[in-house]
Amino acid sequence: MELHEKIPNNVNLSSDPKLKRALENWQPNYVDWWMEMGPEGFQNDDVYLRTAISVDPAGWAHYDYVKMPDYRWGLFLTPPEEDRKIGFGDHEGEPVWQEVPGELRTQLRRLIVTQGDTEPASVEQQRLLGKTAPSLYDMRNLFQVNVEEGRHLWAMVYLLHSYFGRDGREEAEGLLARRSGNEDKPRILGAFNQPCDDWLNFFMFTMFTDRDGKYQLLALAESGFDPLSRTTKFMLTEEAFHMSVGETGVGRIVERTAQLMREHGDDVRAHGGIDLPTIQKYLNFWVSASTDLFGGEVSTNAAQYFATGVKGRHREDRYDEHKCLDSFYQMELVKDGKIVQEEIPMRNAMNEVLRDDYVEDCERGVKRWNKTLEDAGISDRLTMPHRRFNRQIGAYSDHFFNLKGELISAEAFKDSKELWLPADDDRAYIETLMVAVDEPGQIANWIAPPKSGVKGQPFEFEYVRKA
Ligand SMILES: [Fe+2]
Ligand SMILES: [Fe+2]
Repeated sequence: MELHEKIPNNVNLSSDPKLKRALENWQPNYVDWWMEMGPEGFQNDDVYLRTAISVDPAGWAHYDYVKMPDYRWGLFLTPPEEDRKIGFGDHEGEPVWQEVPGELRTQLRRLIVTQGDTEPASVEQQRLLGKTAPSLYDMRNLFQVNVEEGRHLWAMVYLLHSYFGRDGREEAEGLLARRSGNEDKPRILGAFNQPCDDWLNFFMFTMFTDRDGKYQLLALAESGFDPLSRTTKFMLTEEAFHMSVGETGVGRIVERTAQLMREHGDDVRAHGGIDLPTIQKYLNFWVSASTDLFGGEVSTNAAQYFATGVKGRHREDRYDEHKCLDSFYQMELVKDGKIVQEEIPMRNAMNEVLRDDYVEDCERGVKRWNKTLEDAGISDRLTMPHRRFNRQIGAYSDHFFNLKGELISAEAFKDSKELWLPADDDRAYIETLMVAVDEPGQIANWIAPPKSGVKGQPFEFEYVRKA
């Protein structure tokens, strides 16, 4: 089969010999990477997957049994918008770029490589989870997320190959060479080097870390570099599914926990469930690790990205003013051991502006989980940790804060750390629950079944057929 037939695409692959050649060289290395670092133990099985086959909103997805290595990783951009203009920054109102402006080459390449690096990283983090899936339905969802993250890597590699010449090809190889959590060649961003080796981690990751991805993609969708904008817009359609896996996954755990609490009281662990304090600790960990991904509170890089038009605000069209030269952001920063308000020039606060929307979005999800508790007659609630809590990057990383964001001493943080973040015995307990449940219609004891199956199929459907 010709490469352009193997790769569903709307980028005219068959009439672009240079791109075709670059991808032909890269593809075998990608498949090697997938076999080495993709889901372990399931590469020969038939998985009921959705494949993107076009960008037509009515029918872009096709569902069928596929072996993962045969998944048709495609290249899709949303259709071009006629006469699209740059929506913000110094070039506001000018036509968008179809090629990379020379002076923005380094910036754009760095943005694309950083985004691209997260995609294979998450596949690596999740590669053992299939072996302990709580149901075939969940296993299938995990693999769907994995192949789509693989496709997102293709999307970024397409940009590197098409627009960045030899540098781009080298970066595309680099994306297959780094490894999540590897000391010598780690992935670029911190949260993508954290182990994601149990299903509570997985659901928290897809809820909170994939949601960071959503907001990064939304900001890149505003880019003046049109191919980047169109590529990321299509990626967002898949990202929505990843976050729903996380939100409903944690939601189903909460539902089961509430059930066990009603039947047996607070000692949920004695009955094989996940107690609310443990759920809260995992939540605290993944929220803080994912909040870091937005970068420093005050950032000259962010100001530059905005000024040059490569990365905008989430939905620029919501704002009246798109230059942000005379406006300020009221930011709380630490000065002389106290939290004080400071006026930061708006462009330098762009990471924080994006983080605001992210935090609000996360809060909505936590509210829905609390609704589940409320409906079950349980008075406990889950809460979002303050964005200053447990940060490793940015203005708060040199200080210690409690869950409410109040400044505390290093000793006070150390004393409470085991109450706030997963401790060894919490992880060990969760580990004991990680047992494969791979009979159709069966589900692990610590999680409730989903309200409905995939694409009209019942929960009992055989979503993964063993080879
Ligand atoms: Fe992704
Ligand atoms: Fe994702």
